[in-house]
Amino acid sequence: MSPRRVRAECDGVGRQDRPLRFTVDGEPVDGIEGQTIAGALLAAGRLAWRQGRSGAPRGVFCGIGVCFDCLVTVGEERDVRACRRRARDGDVVTTQSRCPDPGGANRRHPAPPAEEDG
Ligand code: FES
Repeated sequence: MSPRRVRAECDGVGRQDRPLRFTVDGEPVDGIEGQTIAGALLAAGRLAWRQGRSGAPRGVFCGIGVCFDCLVTVGEERDVRACRRRARDGDVVTTQSRCPDPGGANRRHPAPPAEEDG
């Protein structure tokens, strides 16, 4: 799938888009300069990239930086809103989730200490 919604030969504005490529969980994603990470993912046909607490798939909901449904990690920076961050060539994006997991690697906050029986 092309990262462009309008094919170059049909573009009345005649933009000269510069392609870029970044990775999401190690998979290459092609985009164009100025496109958000979420925009490039949607153009690539990916509608969800994390799970909410219930396990429901999450991707773009508001698309304007309000709902935080689209969170990803970019490089070492967690909780980046993919709908607000412009993709850069060479970005290393990893998905994240708030689903409970035994090791707690995907938790946003550390688990509280267990209560002792007493
Ligand atoms: S889709 Fe709502 S903050 Fe990104």
